[in-house]
Amino acid sequence: MKEGTLEPETVMEAAKTAASSAYAPYSHFHVGAAILTKGGTIHSGSNVENASYGLSICAERNAATTMASADAEDREIELVAVFSPDASPCFPCGACRQVLREFGCKEVVVYDGQGLRRYPFDQILPNSFGPENL
Ligand code: THU
Repeated sequence: MKEGTLEPETVMEAAKTAASSAYAPYSHFHVGAAILTKGGTIHSGSNVENASYGLSICAERNAATTMASADAEDREIELVAVFSPDASPCFPCGACRQVLREFGCKEVVVYDGQGLRRYPFDQILPNSFGPENL
């Protein structure tokens, strides 16, 4: 989705919409994530669970893999917004932080029930390991 207004609020709206498509029959915990790329495109995803529980995938990773496979020229993440109607705020899990790190995510935005909270990525995953370290 290419957006005219690329404010964090707009990205959070996309995350909220994605949460309504979560497939979470086991945890009943619904999550939506939306990624804004450097090129100005928004990619979203929701969590998709599985009867074999360990195969469940978080919203953030679904959004990240959608982003990474959509356009090889636009794989840098400006920010990710995460929304859950079941927890405010909802932060990305450790595994998702590392996947977001792969694509240079600069900022994480969550909704605390009243408004947006914005975190520089360094604060979310300090002293991280990434592609530049290889
Ligand atoms: N989950 C996410 O999708 N993102 C998060 O940030 C936290 C957890 C999902 C995984 C699982 O489907 C459910 O929420 C409960 O852990």
